[in-house]
Amino acid sequence: SLPSEVFPDNFLWGGATAANQLEGAWDQDGKGPSIADALPGGKERFAIAAQPDFKWKIDAKKYRYPNHRGIEHYQRFKEDIKLFAEMGFKCYRFSIAWSRVFPKGDETTPNEAGLVFYDQLIDECLKYNIEPVVTISHYELPLHLATEYGGWKNRKLIAFYENFAKVVLQRYSQKVKYWMTFNEINSAFHFPVMSQGMVPSNGSNDKNNVFQAWHNQFVASSLAVKYGHQLNPALKIGCMILYATSYAFDANPENQMANLKQMQDFNFFCADVQVRGKYPASTARMLHDYHVDPKKLEITDEDLALIANNTVDYIGFSYYMSMVIDETHADADASSGNLIGGVKNPFLEASDWGWQIDPTGLRIALNELYDRYQKPLFVVENGLGAYDKVEADGAIHDEYRIDYLRKHIQAMGDALTDGVDLMGYTPWGCIDLVSASTGQMSKRYGFIYVDLDDEGNGTLDRLRKDSFYWYQKVIQSNGARM
Ligand code: BG6
Repeated sequence: SLPSEVFPDNFLWGGATAANQLEGAWDQDGKGPSIADALPGGKERFAIAAQPDFKWKIDAKKYRYPNHRGIEHYQRFKEDIKLFAEMGFKCYRFSIAWSRVFPKGDETTPNEAGLVFYDQLIDECLKYNIEPVVTISHYELPLHLATEYGGWKNRKLIAFYENFAKVVLQRYSQKVKYWMTFNEINSAFHFPVMSQGMVPSNGSNDKNNVFQAWHNQFVASSLAVKYGHQLNPALKIGCMILYATSYAFDANPENQMANLKQMQDFNFFCADVQVRGKYPASTARMLHDYHVDPKKLEITDEDLALIANNTVDYIGFSYYMSMVIDETHADADASSGNLIGGVKNPFLEASDWGWQIDPTGLRIALNELYDRYQKPLFVVENGLGAYDKVEADGAIHDEYRIDYLRKHIQAMGDALTDGVDLMGYTPWGCIDLVSASTGQMSKRYGFIYVDLDDEGNGTLDRLRKDSFYWYQKVIQSNGARM
């Protein structure tokens, strides 16, 4: 445990979700389909989407789509937020489903019913003094923008996103102070399916497209920051990156150099643009390494000025694991992770899905990010995906999850003591929801258990896990009792 004064009084303890993974109601009240609605359930979901003949379309005869139903949060959000309030949440991070507001994405007038849902969701949070933290775009591009426009490589998406961001910023800027423009924008480095809406059949294997898509997103993000700050200068608008601390396998300078490149290309590239307002010096080397022809990229002076003048206020990031870079041992064992690779670290244990558990890596991440950017940090995702067992009396003894979270909170406390400016902590999937990478329900992160299995069976009842009571205590004591 930590002294009570380690975490600042206004520290934002909470939890995080994304619309497409819990709302369900995928076609209700005018909502259009999103790319998440077209990703099949099951561990093979990414392998299927990576096939050359995979097309963005919903084929219910062939596949199951767990996101369509989610955990029916759309119908039960009041009950869910009441449970968050019972845990003592100070904030709640969720996303706004773009295709609920603009069903196809290219309309000019929004779907009022979609906006009404978020009015209610936000008001329900505020009723309990829970600060809403909104991700504008979380892996849920309207499907139509992927099928008709080819995803984010198409510059037209900038205007569509701008329109969407303006509508939601304007509607909620008096009630929502904390925003993020794009979830895990850097994840496209390995897999541009979810963040850029691109699969091999619409060009994801060509890194020229990935870089063009990133650039388009950087411009779109800057437009949202610009508009948000014009509306209300007190708004805090952040970027959001998938951060994986990475280590060189050994002291071999070749591995050290490879790790440096990994840090630059994966962890820092997008944040550099969004936080510092310009492409980093390593960009030319990076484009060269990935066989991208800079002459083929459409980057205007106006774009660069916009990016320079509208940088983010804070850095939101997800942290689940660390990774090891080894270029010199061809036979090293591969590890797995959320869209990232690397080799196994003999000093670390891994989750049932192979994600290597490394709380010290979070302390390192916080120090590295703060040293580099000197902007407030926000750990907006962290947690352990695990199989949970419900006992006969309805209890769920998830001490493995408590252990994981405790060690990561301890690491945040250590980083605060190191001098890092950390705003808050929203563990991922505070209520069980559909996994992004595997489309499973059985990969659970929640403090709240949802009775639903991978085949869609269950009552959808919500049950408090042991971690629910534990986290309640952590929040109550501001991190002093763990
Ligand atoms: C992050 C995403 O990569 O990790 C979330 O922002 C996702 O959407 C989370 O759910 C956990 O990953 P997974 O694949 O276990 O659901």
